[in-house]
Amino acid sequence: MNSFETRDNLEEIERQYRFIELLKNVVEHISAEKKRKPTACVETFGCQMNARDSEKISGILLSVGFEIIEDENADLTVYNTCSVRDNANQKVYGRLGRLSTFKKNNPEMKIALCGCMTQEEEVIDKLCQSYGFVDLIFGTHNLYRFAEYLYYVYEGVENIPADIEDVRIKGHTLISHWNETDKICEKLPVDRKYFYKSGVNIMFGCNNFCSYCIVPYVRGRERSREADEIIAEIENLVKDGVIEVMLLGQNVNSYGKNLEDPISFAELLRRVEKIEGLERIRFMTSHPKDLSDELIEVIKNSKKICHHLHLPLQSGSSRILKSMNRVYDKEKYLDLALKIRREIPDISITTDIIVGFPGETKEDVDDTLDVIRKVEFDNAFTFIYSVRTGTPAAKMEQLDEKFVKEQFDRVLSLVQETARKRVELIKGLTLPVLVEEINKQNEEYLTGRLSNNTIVHFKGNPDLIGKIVNVKCNECKGFYYIGEVVE
Ligand code: 5AD
Ligand code: SF4
Repeated sequence: MNSFETRDNLEEIERQYRFIELLKNVVEHISAEKKRKPTACVETFGCQMNARDSEKISGILLSVGFEIIEDENADLTVYNTCSVRDNANQKVYGRLGRLSTFKKNNPEMKIALCGCMTQEEEVIDKLCQSYGFVDLIFGTHNLYRFAEYLYYVYEGVENIPADIEDVRIKGHTLISHWNETDKICEKLPVDRKYFYKSGVNIMFGCNNFCSYCIVPYVRGRERSREADEIIAEIENLVKDGVIEVMLLGQNVNSYGKNLEDPISFAELLRRVEKIEGLERIRFMTSHPKDLSDELIEVIKNSKKICHHLHLPLQSGSSRILKSMNRVYDKEKYLDLALKIRREIPDISITTDIIVGFPGETKEDVDDTLDVIRKVEFDNAFTFIYSVRTGTPAAKMEQLDEKFVKEQFDRVLSLVQETARKRVELIKGLTLPVLVEEINKQNEEYLTGRLSNNTIVHFKGNPDLIGKIVNVKCNECKGFYYIGEVVE
């Protein structure tokens, strides 16, 4: 059964709490020697899933006595990596070079790597060959064993018992990554970055195998958590002051299909909606092939579900979509997006687009432009196709770089044009904003988000952070607004 097996995992959770206690002793010793708490920095690359995983890593570090800092020149630095495109990998290799200099100056420094990149055998080989100063490498499936691995990193990897599954030692690096798991292990400490909002995993992994994408290989098969577990987690978050949750999954619309008592994503949303004290619900990401009419109805009738839908298009060409294994064509996407626009006129629709997929012609890109024009996306993340070893598309003939860059520029400029047009539509309206933080560029201003995810800056008292206030959207600055609080 693909679900959250509470009973099975209790044993594992207890085991991890034992390691948390052991690690606490280690950290106490270090603190006594240094006459200060050791510092730890957790750096996140990539998506919201990784951001949530980093909160779990920080939660463990805080609970054992580390001080969490932003500076990578720390006593322990953890890189939670992304491998969705090759430039994400390259960025990590570049940054590791800098970490090695920090480590030379502070030989007791520990460096740990986890996330999607460390699920790739090729990456592990490269790290072992050229980055031997890394102390710990672990993957996405066994993240919950972080305390255990870190304990052995501090106590000396030679002390690791022979019966711990799937652990390798190369030089002094402890390596452990699992190819697959059916376990979902939670109830470990979490250090939430924001007191008023939180990500909540509703499912893990992906079964779609889009032909360009590495995610199914590094995050494993789709596993949904039991609805009761999700509801209980959100209720606890709300008790703790959270008013907005982001339900996270690679393809939330296929949530619940594999549970013993199957439940649809729309039904889950209905249950989340009923949680008292919760004010806003977001979710990410929706695959167009699974987005039901029932879901559109639920969003339409909800008072809490934000009017923002991230609906990755990837390509507007039916031929390319077929080759990408996306299971919908141009017409189906258009029908869906336009139906959503009709049913919920103030919803913002954002998307992901890949340019330069093998075999893509100028005419295929024309189809993508046509969809952008018709849907008028409120925002789009446009990516140049990146070859990921092990995926089917990596074996296809790749396109000329110059041609791809030209096509990319065509897509980008149209996307910017429609986004600007859409954001102008709310000019002058007074709308509820969740106040998120003090503006980083100008501290007189606060920054918040509308239900449709548009960012608004406005003057106000920092006491408003974490609250929902009405803001008049006065001045449109391209993609964001300057506004004023309206009492
Ligand atoms: N190359 C470029 N973009 C990619 N994405 C996923 N895999 C690749 C790749 N190999 C993009 C998709 C996805 C987003 C998270 O990243 O658009 O929706
Ligand atoms: Fe990758 Fe496709 Fe799964 Fe999204 S749905 S994570 S693009 S395989």
